[in-house]
Amino acid sequence: MINKIHSLGGYIHEYQKSVANPQAFWAQQGESFFWRKRWDKVVDWNFDEPKIQWYVNGKLNITENIFERNLYTHGSQEAIIWEPNNPDEESRTLTYSELFVEVNKFANTLRRLGVGKGDRVAIYMPMVPELAIALLACARIGAIHSVVFAGFSANALKERINDAAAKVLLTADGGFRGDKITPLKQIADEALTNCSSIETVVVLKRTKSDIEMVVGRDIWWHKAVDGQSEVCPAEEMDSEDPLFILYTSGSTGKPKGIVHTTGGYMVYSGYTFSNVFQYHAGDVYFCTADIGWITGHTYIVYGPLLAGAKTLMFEGVPTWPDAGRFWDIVSKYQVNQFYTAPTAIRALLAKGNEFVEGKKLSSLKVLGTVGEPINEEAWHWYHDHVGRNQCPIVDTWWQTETGGVMVSPIAGITPTKPSFATLPLPGVQPVIVSNEGKELTGNSVEGNLCIKYPWPGMARTIWGDHERFRQTYFSSYSKMYFTGDGVKRDEDGYYRILGRVDDVINVSGHRLGTAEIENAINEHPLVNESAVVGYPHAIKGQGIYAFVACGELSTGGEDGIRKSIMQGVTKIIGPIARPDLVQLVPGLPKTRSGKIMRRILRKVAEGDATNLGDISTLLDEDVVEQIIDGALVDV
Ligand code: WT7
Repeated sequence: MINKIHSLGGYIHEYQKSVANPQAFWAQQGESFFWRKRWDKVVDWNFDEPKIQWYVNGKLNITENIFERNLYTHGSQEAIIWEPNNPDEESRTLTYSELFVEVNKFANTLRRLGVGKGDRVAIYMPMVPELAIALLACARIGAIHSVVFAGFSANALKERINDAAAKVLLTADGGFRGDKITPLKQIADEALTNCSSIETVVVLKRTKSDIEMVVGRDIWWHKAVDGQSEVCPAEEMDSEDPLFILYTSGSTGKPKGIVHTTGGYMVYSGYTFSNVFQYHAGDVYFCTADIGWITGHTYIVYGPLLAGAKTLMFEGVPTWPDAGRFWDIVSKYQVNQFYTAPTAIRALLAKGNEFVEGKKLSSLKVLGTVGEPINEEAWHWYHDHVGRNQCPIVDTWWQTETGGVMVSPIAGITPTKPSFATLPLPGVQPVIVSNEGKELTGNSVEGNLCIKYPWPGMARTIWGDHERFRQTYFSSYSKMYFTGDGVKRDEDGYYRILGRVDDVINVSGHRLGTAEIENAINEHPLVNESAVVGYPHAIKGQGIYAFVACGELSTGGEDGIRKSIMQGVTKIIGPIARPDLVQLVPGLPKTRSGKIMRRILRKVAEGDATNLGDISTLLDEDVVEQIIDGALVDV
């Protein structure tokens, strides 16, 4: 198995080895997996093109590493433990052997539908075991999965299906979330009016909602699977064959299809899972993310299953039927490792301690967080009330693009500090770079977070647009991967992530491009132009503040317009992108050359209009006065 770190000295030793000789280090991690043909070369790379290849010419299938490799030892052990949205509904568990059968049957179903190696399969599903089965079935036959979070709108789904030219869409009649049902099939139908690549839609019955089935295009999941063979030979994949595409937001309007490949992603997800969470055989591990995001891909599905772990999948939300839901699940299944997002912690903290007190949480050994900086208050509440002062917190910094955790404590081994992601994992070489591109060495420095050496889990390209990949991540600073985050290295050499330095905002751990939201706002017939910035929000981390310039305010008055702008964004992107505040302004502050001065708007949204910095290039100072006067936060 993977090299497991057992002590701080062990971590330091592994880290030094990984920097002194990355090839030898990653070769050693690769050894613990099953390759049909071993690689010729561990890594081949340059950050100019960029070209990144790991385990070059290796041949494998990631599902053989989950199933065939684990079955002798873990066949009868639970692989997936599934807790439904409604606590009164029966839960489900699938052992490794049972999951293998389901994956094979569904893989055969996909093959029968004409899906082959390299074809794209779009997935728009609720958090049910079939979602994990779908990912693994694609991987079994070499199809590239593209999961679209089931909270996205029809329009967002359409864009993603078309960008990847997916052949098949997997969805469900609906999805349960708290006391609501998301009409997934209905949304998918709307999306598909403009998706010519889709040949078949496979529909899982979940909510038993009334839906329409399009003859010749739609088939029921259970009917399609019925009678399929339980044996499905795995497709032989090259290390660098794509495993999946996952869309994420960037600083321009169009979402980016981040591409992860097979060999490197497998080694990296397995290695980081086992080490960061210090998973031990038999433990129950619960990550509360949705599989629609990278956290779910790497740390609900691939990482844990590669390690032969028991991974808990939860369909519902943290606050329904009440704010004790997570803790009831922890106690029901005796969860040992629990991984969630700061926004969930803040939301539960705000509901009061009565929901956590008295719950049986003594099984917990490790707590984790991901997605955004965790503030000290939330950290301490998590530590004291959930962890009963006994569980280390791993504050894991990473991104969709990095594939797995990059900077994080090793649970119980690295001494922690509230709101610090602490130290890089072995194989990760972070550098802090000034705006001028100078590497800032030593401690007590602050700047832009870059990585100067590749790691196996990193993204290889943006689907269909390698030039955008180069431009976005490798052009800001020469020969380095630029993360988009600001960071501080303190006097102890510990890393603290300060948040995005680009036009990306992080709302409840969801990453959104401000340009994407502006595009949606600008579709409103009365809107001339808009500018969106983040502002501090007690629960969400950042809220969405939109400054909108309209022509006439004819119908419905200001409130009506504000509301219809919010509804428009919900329709075009999804509820997660709905602005919290919409301020109607006479115009936007611009430079003489016509560039919007976002810095000023950010200051206003932060409630600090006292120090706007240099405004000498401003075209019209009156506009700024009016914006400050009409601000929706105290300035
Ligand atoms: C951005 C990536 C990786 C899974 C979830 C988000 C922010 C992520 C942390 C953390 C401070 C964090 C960064 C990063 N972020 N983890 N522990 N501390 N910030 O993935 O949607 O690709 O977003 O989330 O700003 O760049 P993502």
